[in-house]
Amino acid sequence: MRIAIASDHGGFELKGILVAHLAGLGHEVIDLGTDGPDSVDYPVYGKKCAECVAGGTADKGIVICGTGIGVSIAANKVRGIRCALVTSDVMAELASDHNDANMIALGGRTTTPDEAKRWSEIWLATPFSRGERHERRVALLNEM
Ligand code: RB5
Repeated sequence: MRIAIASDHGGFELKGILVAHLAGLGHEVIDLGTDGPDSVDYPVYGKKCAECVAGGTADKGIVICGTGIGVSIAANKVRGIRCALVTSDVMAELASDHNDANMIALGGRTTTPDEAKRWSEIWLATPFSRGERHERRVALLNEM
């Protein structure tokens, strides 16, 4: 799968760990920065990753800032993006199962490397529960 990933400085370290992990699992990882620990603005990176997914260059996207909140807000402003802030195993699973999330957001200062790897894998491995109510709700999101 082609996975775009971007972070601000608060997620820079975790991004590096996830890039290596996902590439090791055989994914094509598109690293959109940031490229160092210097302070940058999270909306720029949330938007960049979201546009990569919405435009079809990547199949899915992962964004990381200190908490995951800022980048998720930014990503969800891009049409066609459903970015879920993931903070547990069950949220990783339901992000795909119920919401068909094409992006997830993680907190670089609130998430351990093992959690980030596990939550990413759960999200990527879980299919969307196609079925009347979930498809109707996602269609309503897509209309907004
Ligand atoms: C940067 O200090 C921090 O505000 C940012 O990484 C993020 O947590 C915003 O939501």
